[in-house]
Amino acid sequence: METLRVRGDRLSRRLEELGQVGAIEGGGCARLALTDADRAGRDLVVTWMRDLGLDVTIDEIGNVTAERAGSDGGPPVMCGSHIDTVATGGRYDGNLGVLAGLEVLETLAEAGVTTRRPLAVAFFTDEEGSRFAPDMLGSLVYAGAMTVEEAYDLVAIDGARLGDELARIGYLGATPCPGRVPHAYVELHIEQGPVLETGGEVIGAVTGVQGISWQEVTVTGQSNHAGTTPMSYRHDAGYVAAAATVFVRDLAAELGGHQVGTVGTLDLHPDLVNVVAGRARFTVDLRNTDEPDLRRAEDRLAGELERLGAAEGVTVARRPLARFAPVEFDPAIVELVESTAASLGFPARRLPSGAGHDAQMMARLCPAGMIFVPSAGGISHNPAEHTDPEHLEAGANVLLHTLLQLAGGLSLGAALDAAALDAAAPTAAAPTAAEPESSGGPA
Ligand code: GLV
Ligand code: MN
Ligand code: MN
Repeated sequence: METLRVRGDRLSRRLEELGQVGAIEGGGCARLALTDADRAGRDLVVTWMRDLGLDVTIDEIGNVTAERAGSDGGPPVMCGSHIDTVATGGRYDGNLGVLAGLEVLETLAEAGVTTRRPLAVAFFTDEEGSRFAPDMLGSLVYAGAMTVEEAYDLVAIDGARLGDELARIGYLGATPCPGRVPHAYVELHIEQGPVLETGGEVIGAVTGVQGISWQEVTVTGQSNHAGTTPMSYRHDAGYVAAAATVFVRDLAAELGGHQVGTVGTLDLHPDLVNVVAGRARFTVDLRNTDEPDLRRAEDRLAGELERLGAAEGVTVARRPLARFAPVEFDPAIVELVESTAASLGFPARRLPSGAGHDAQMMARLCPAGMIFVPSAGGISHNPAEHTDPEHLEAGANVLLHTLLQLAGGLSLGAALDAAALDAAAPTAAAPTAAEPESSGGPA
């Protein structure tokens, strides 16, 4: 039998069409979670799922799953990602994993292949977390690490309540959360960094995801006249926010290694040229592959905020938005992705993920892993985000054959017998139990 391949042109066409929903200047997308644009994107993908005759379900947090039956039944081998974007997003982040999953299922249908286990492709609600923190919310709730009630009460940056928005856009489904435990979960995603492109590799076998710490900091000082207030009399919230921003940058440089730090939002009040800012609100995103190092960075920042506040005579309040410990993916899946890429002739390397992904939540439930493809210039969360069509296709083919081996089907031109499959498939269903507990969401 010929080695099965996806149709790259069909995948690219669907990415292009979905990219038109919420399109913004520069070729990107704005589909913040649970907005009208998100609803339109969801409707399009659900139409494609139904057109393929898949069994589509919507759960209580709005995650959508489309399943294709297997000959033996049981829990499905699942793939997927997200279709919400940041407000200045590209057309590949998340969308690739979902549409490549769909492409895999269509390829199997066309070839008349029935796998032993069912196969499912999902898109999870609010992966980005830009509108409703924390990020990876839908998969977090799917994995049972946050209740639907807690999630419904989350408040967006625009003041909307999550549960109300979910109902408003028609995606408050009935399938209960936590969701069904899959046999395994594999997510294809763009790398969103420069490693694969720099190394000339086409496929990344993702070893894990670094830890994520988000907090919102509110500084309260005193608004005053910019001309008449001597410098020593000031309680300048804007100054403290600026000093903290510089501190975050310097801290990451000082700690080195995998430490990164970002102040991505800054809001001054009253935000006028001739008024000392009485209030500043900003967010800090700290990430590290090492949990103790991440904790050290958080502690250093907390100490500096205290020092700055006391020196300027302002109050500083911190509110956690998201906190997830680093996650390691199942070694058998990492190995399987690597060997599948090699069998298909794609240069590959192992690497950790710098971005958060739904796979890190699914890793709490079942053996999980990820496949990366290169991002041109390492650019993401930017309308200019780009991945070459042949790399999109390569990633989808690695996804196809990884899923086939996990689900028990014909792969790489050979019929895999049950023993070979069971040897390739991971056995331990437990996620990385040695990892420190992590929790998401506002305290
Ligand atoms: C989510 O996509 C994140 O890593 O910020
Ligand atoms: Mn993503
Ligand atoms: Mn993203």
